[in-house]
Amino acid sequence: MKRDLKFIDDIITKIKYNNTYRKLKFGNIIGKYVNIDGKKLLNLCSNNYLGIENTNIKTIENTECFSRSIINNPLFKILESKLANHKIYERALIYPTGYMANIGIIPTIIQQNDIILSDELNHASIIDACKLSNGKILVYKHNDMEDLESQIKLKRKRTFIITEGIFSMDGDFANLKQIVEIANKKNAFVIMDDAHGDFVVGEDGRGSANYLHVDKNIDVYISSLSKGLGCFGGYVASKNNVIELCINRSRSFIYTSALPSQLINLALKRLKSNRETYRKKLWQNVNKLKIGLKKSGYQINSKSQIIPITIGDEQKTIEFSKYLLNNNIYAVPIRYPTVAKNTARIRISVTSNFSKQEIENIINIFDYGTYKFKLN
Ligand SMILES: Cc1ncc(COP(=O)(O)O)c(C=O)c1O
Repeated sequence: MKRDLKFIDDIITKIKYNNTYRKLKFGNIIGKYVNIDGKKLLNLCSNNYLGIENTNIKTIENTECFSRSIINNPLFKILESKLANHKIYERALIYPTGYMANIGIIPTIIQQNDIILSDELNHASIIDACKLSNGKILVYKHNDMEDLESQIKLKRKRTFIITEGIFSMDGDFANLKQIVEIANKKNAFVIMDDAHGDFVVGEDGRGSANYLHVDKNIDVYISSLSKGLGCFGGYVASKNNVIELCINRSRSFIYTSALPSQLINLALKRLKSNRETYRKKLWQNVNKLKIGLKKSGYQINSKSQIIPITIGDEQKTIEFSKYLLNNNIYAVPIRYPTVAKNTARIRISVTSNFSKQEIENIINIFDYGTYKFKLN
């Protein structure tokens, strides 16, 4: 055979040269810790922000495996109704993951010749979803309302503004108030992915739109069950007709297997758990950690539980992550292509179950890090 895959090696060599090479890491997650090579590390990468403790569910034996277009376990109906109530929308629909929700919903709603205005820092799943759609994609500068407004010129065309609620890598909130004002003025629709705000902020954890008092103005609300709820799956909440169209046309809903009912059961249990207590503790931890990091000279702009420590240089960020590992802290270096080149960072995500002592410990280790890595 003459063919070889040498071009693949060339691509990998380039990735390595740019210090953006990733190796799979294996470890066991045990509550707030991760066990890697026999070492117990405090996990600063968890998306289980509320740290809701494990609820006993049956193991995944005898699980049914069907597309939802064939048959649905009645538990889906119960969870979807509860999620619709949680968001105060007419109806909700569950997808296997948040990623699949985005790539399924966005191309279903956006039609040929529609205009999409997408924040430049939107998550990869939103970017992929926009590319899968037949709309014309325009990217506006991150959270820059002047740029957003200046790009909405074609009043006659149907326009969709797409943003995250809390941005996953920067931890800042979208300027939802202004986005909604612009959308109302220009007769545009707003689609929001609130994977990191849902269950975490707002009244009873209703999410970023509720927190910023614009929840009546988001047309399509997409979220994940794998972050604040600490479970698995994605969902959309919207008007009846949007959900109906998704059931009929959304490819990542129809042409794949449904979540196992055990996971739906788990989500129902977690939804019912004492989330307010967990949320309270989370925000105490977030505030304490931010105060400590600021004292050490870190510039903390994030208003959420996601705290990026931007180091910039990829190699230095890898070294910083190794330093944390040596101090029993797990926080992976976030590099290109997840974030822009030369904005490599340690992304801290805070969870409610860190103890006071552990927060102090994190602060001390990051404090010494400023000296060791000459960050100030
Ligand atoms: C903003 C955003 N949307 C969607 C997703 C995907 O969610 P899931 O993990 O449920 O696929 C993520 C995951 O990191 C995310 O950050």
